[in-house]
Amino acid sequence: MSKKFKAVVIDNQNEKFTREIKQLSTDDLKDGNVLVKIDYSSLNFKDALILNNGGRIVRKYPFIPGIDFSGIVEESEDNKFKKNDKVILTGFRVGEMYFGGFSQYAKVNSDFLVKTPNDLDSLKAMKMGTAGLTALLCAFAVKAKEELLMGTKVKDVLVTGATGGVGSFAVMALSKMGYDVHAVTGKKEKHEYLKKLGAKNILDRSQFLGESKLLEKGLWDCVVDTVGGEGLTKILAQTKPGGIVALPGNAGGNKISTNVMPFVIRGVKLWGIDSSGASVKRKEFVWNEASKLIDFSLIDNSIKEVSLKELLEVFPKILKGQLTGRIIVNPSK
Ligand SMILES: NC(=O)c1ccc[n+]([C@@H]2O[C@H](COP(=O)([O-])OP(=O)(O)OC[C@H]3O[C@@H](n4cnc5c(N)ncnc54)[C@H](OP(=O)(O)O)[C@@H]3O)[C@@H](O)[C@H]2O)c1
Repeated sequence: MSKKFKAVVIDNQNEKFTREIKQLSTDDLKDGNVLVKIDYSSLNFKDALILNNGGRIVRKYPFIPGIDFSGIVEESEDNKFKKNDKVILTGFRVGEMYFGGFSQYAKVNSDFLVKTPNDLDSLKAMKMGTAGLTALLCAFAVKAKEELLMGTKVKDVLVTGATGGVGSFAVMALSKMGYDVHAVTGKKEKHEYLKKLGAKNILDRSQFLGESKLLEKGLWDCVVDTVGGEGLTKILAQTKPGGIVALPGNAGGNKISTNVMPFVIRGVKLWGIDSSGASVKRKEFVWNEASKLIDFSLIDNSIKEVSLKELLEVFPKILKGQLTGRIIVNPSK
């Protein structure tokens, strides 16, 4: 039976971009085979680009954005899922190509969904959201140096963009894994916050800019670089032999400049992280590790819950770099 619900709908008719909260029917949800009643979604940088003007990402209008959500299965045509199962969705082009999570309901392909682990819930899942998932994918890329590659024990891990969504979860998870986390930030007022998350040492982001030798003194066993751009030159030159540099982001720019020496003399590995397309198996693994690695009490003060209406007021702040902490969206608020 069809149900009425509300959602953020963006449209682009006659070159006029609009965003509104509209009432729709579940009959309007054409893709997918699992209908999910959404508890929470979250605001990511990509969502803000899409809410702003489609971000050259959305190709069909009208459209419901929102690249991640958590909720409860209402109807399923796939027996992998049954009514009332708790589920998490991140990526797979939902909110870009398929209707997304800024809505009370979404219908998605069952192959995109992960069952919410018993030790998490919908709220915790979206407190982490895509940022938290990405950070954990990076943390396990770091751990792979010891396990998968059977390398020496990891000790010193550099995390850039440390106060950001991905960076702050990475600081937390890596310190819980027992590593000494060196957090790089441009925000002097956030040093204490980063220490609380588990950072052992704080570095200013300016230290990584400017000329770099082909190889510099090896300082980092591994790195999570959420910033990319110019700083990556020095970071690669300062990574110790066999080190892994996990690269999920481009907050500092898309272009990188490096040389072959870190790779051929030190065997450094540059490991690109794409959380959206990571397999469901990998996502399941990471979500199941989350409660061991994330102390939610440490981040609760930096999380704000908003309604769909409030989302439309607050999203521009993320584009102007004026947002600290995470925004989670409660579509029924
Ligand atoms: N690959 C994936 O699957 C995936 C998933 C999610 C996000 N991402 C990407 O990962 C990056 C981080 O995402 P996020 O959600 O953590 O973003 P965010 O919350 O906006 O944080 C980015 C952080 O980077 C630092 N930063 C910003 N502009 C900078 C600049 N010009 N130069 C140097 N540092 C700068 C700031 O940290 P400090 O002030 O502490 O230095 C900022 O807090 C973004 O590029 C995002 O698009 C990728």
